[in-house]
Amino acid sequence: MSNKLFDLTGKGAVVIGGAGGLGQAIAQGLIEAGAKVLISSRKEDALKKAQEELKAATGKSVEYAAGDASVEADVEALVKTALAKLGDVTILVNAQGFNKKQDALDFDIDVFRQMLDANITSFMISAKHFGRHFKETGYGKIINLSSVRGKIATKGTGNAGYCATKGAVDMLTKQIASEFGPFGVTVNAIGPNITATPMMVSVFEKRAADAGVSIEQYLKQQGEGNPMRKMGDPVDIVGTAVFLAAPASDFMTGNILYPDGGLTAIG
Ligand SMILES: NC(=O)c1ccc[n+]([C@@H]2O[C@H](COP(=O)([O-])OP(=O)(O)OC[C@H]3O[C@@H](n4cnc5c(N)ncnc54)[C@H](OP(=O)(O)O)[C@@H]3O)[C@@H](O)[C@H]2O)c1
Repeated sequence: MSNKLFDLTGKGAVVIGGAGGLGQAIAQGLIEAGAKVLISSRKEDALKKAQEELKAATGKSVEYAAGDASVEADVEALVKTALAKLGDVTILVNAQGFNKKQDALDFDIDVFRQMLDANITSFMISAKHFGRHFKETGYGKIINLSSVRGKIATKGTGNAGYCATKGAVDMLTKQIASEFGPFGVTVNAIGPNITATPMMVSVFEKRAADAGVSIEQYLKQQGEGNPMRKMGDPVDIVGTAVFLAAPASDFMTGNILYPDGGLTAIG
């Protein structure tokens, strides 16, 4: 049975960070809901691999374009490429970024600035340039990957850069939602809990070693801290992303949704 509220047939979608753990899972969900998808990030080899995997998983062709989303000229080029390859774009997913954990007393400020660039400046740049296109067409959906760490700090040290950038994503989302609402464009964020993706591998390794437990034991302990008693999997984020890309959410803007196993309910 088709449901137009969640139908993305023929819609063009750009997923920045689309070769990453969450971005690729979201790209697959959008394709399965009918969208034509282009993935983008900096490393072409990773994009090619993701393109092949998405084709194998969905049977559909996926476009890709390499570029750095924190560089304005790259994003301007990305808008042009995406429009040429997809025909039109109505959905933008910002799933780029990284997490470098350092104690605040020893935080390398160059790394902090790199985190600002990748985790927040790039979201502003893409909203600006895709937003101009959405304003022209009178419709668009922007979906920003925030985190539970935009709302709740951690007890231990290490998350100053990450929490700062994710809190900024939340407020950028609300402000841009306010500015783009009159053009028919919704802007929302997703705040996942800790999820096993390439971004987190080195974090898991270090934390497990510090705690003197295996990675498997560490992941089990992490899950037990959530009401749902499990750690997030990339697929747990996909339904929220498809909802925010679909007509079902057309009157919803400036929100942060938490597919987080209940962490923010008790945090
Ligand atoms: N995994 C988690 O536990 C978790 C939890 C909450 C929120 N999140 C957020 O979800 C998003 C995706 O995370 P993930 O876990 O999927 O990470 P991931 O697997 O490391 O993927 C991140 C992606 O971002 C791309 N990227 C990084 N900097 C970029 C830039 N300047 N321009 C363009 N692309 C860039 C990376 O590719 P290149 O390096 O090739 O550019 C990669 O494809 C991030 O915003 C993250 O903060 C993750």
